[in-house]
Amino acid sequence: MKKSNSFYGYSLIMAFFMLFLGARSQLTPYFYDRTCPNLLNIVRYEVEKAFFKEIRMAASLLRLHFHDCFVNGCDGSILLDVSDGEKVSFSNLNSVRGFEVVDDIKRAVEYECSGVVSCADILAIAARDSVVITGGPTWNVLLGRRDGFVSSKAAANNSIPSAFDSLYNITSKFKKVGLDVTDVVSLSGSHTIGLARCAAFNNRLFNFEQTGRPDSSMDEHMLFQLQLLCPNVSSYSADLDSKIGNLTTPLDRDSPIGFPTNDFDNHYFQNLLNRKALLSSDQVLLNSYETKRLIQDYSISTDRFFDDFAKSMVKMGNISPLLGSRGQIRKNCRRVN
Ligand code: HEM
Ligand SMILES: *[C@@H]1O[C@H](CO)[C@@H](O)[C@H](O)[C@H]1NC(C)=O
Ligand SMILES: *[C@@H]1O[C@H](CO)[C@@H](O)[C@H](O)[C@H]1NC(C)=O
Ligand SMILES: *[C@@H]1O[C@H](CO)[C@@H](O)[C@H](O)[C@H]1NC(C)=O
Repeated sequence: MKKSNSFYGYSLIMAFFMLFLGARSQLTPYFYDRTCPNLLNIVRYEVEKAFFKEIRMAASLLRLHFHDCFVNGCDGSILLDVSDGEKVSFSNLNSVRGFEVVDDIKRAVEYECSGVVSCADILAIAARDSVVITGGPTWNVLLGRRDGFVSSKAAANNSIPSAFDSLYNITSKFKKVGLDVTDVVSLSGSHTIGLARCAAFNNRLFNFEQTGRPDSSMDEHMLFQLQLLCPNVSSYSADLDSKIGNLTTPLDRDSPIGFPTNDFDNHYFQNLLNRKALLSSDQVLLNSYETKRLIQDYSISTDRFFDDFAKSMVKMGNISPLLGSRGQIRKNCRRVN
């Protein structure tokens, strides 16, 4: 019939139009299929190389993507070497790492597909590969982000949640970038891998919240071990202070790490329920009914945790990407072209 034919034709035109628009206005897993078909293999190879050199690097790369996305969206801003940039912000200084590995990945990618792949996308792929290589879930990484021009210490101070934030403040910072309470809990499950410095948790060890006593919510044996690792810094010189501040311990204590490739597990949530949270920001996740409920769910179901985690990672990767002709494709991740 004529009428339905023309309706069919119209639908087809609309579909093409929307496809065209879609390709320009949102991220897609196929973004580099024609311009850099081997991209995923190149990145995975470089992540594996870095991981076998230093197991912790998987954690460090995952965290880089998080800290990138929370400040001006996932735009590679954390990678820029500029004065008063994100690298020297409160949560990043002496803390975030992995920049040399990102340089290596970028170099390998540029060698094969010059000027095509953004540093922001490299961080997103490397984060996924880091989760997979440590035994976590996989997901399709959406691509097509472009790199930003600015990196701001002040913006990072304001938007990256800190280890000393309340649950309300952490949740607020997630809400500001479009993430919800489930994302807070599932993504905190990243702390199933990696290390933290004494400086990030010694507030709990001797004089918690001006009480003159340690945080009573911490397991006593764990407290004892941590007090030995990070002695009360007030009695040391400033230089020694920061040396102690730099000492590290696993975020997820006693996780079965004998076989390091199977370390991304739900043991972190079991620890939370057993008074073995390391950071204050981990401990406070028990402070609301909703978050505690999720912790209980994840602690008994790896599938629940992995499903939610993968979904939340995709959501996080969608924070305010620069699309189309906005931003640029950096040649060197450390500086704008
Ligand atoms: C919920 C709020 C969060 C807070 C307050 C927080 C805070 C921290 C802190 C203080 C450290 C230790 C840093 C140091 O000692 O130098 C850390 C490490 C880490 N964080 Fe988080 N984090 C949060 C959420 C996340 C999210 C969403 C991810 C990833 C999606 C993540 C991934 C990691 C990883 C993998 C490490 C270990 C890094 C390494 O060993 O190099 N964190 N985090
Ligand atoms: C951000 O945090 C750093 C490190 O703690 C601090 O020195 C600085 O005053 C803060 N800077 C801005 C611009 O907010
Ligand atoms: C702590 O580690 C950072 C690198 O992460 C380094 O720049 C700093 O010098 C270290 N501090 C001390 C006192 O060792
Ligand atoms: C929460 O955020 C407010 C506003 O930025 C700040 O004044 C307060 O110190 C924060 N409190 C905690 C415990 O995180």
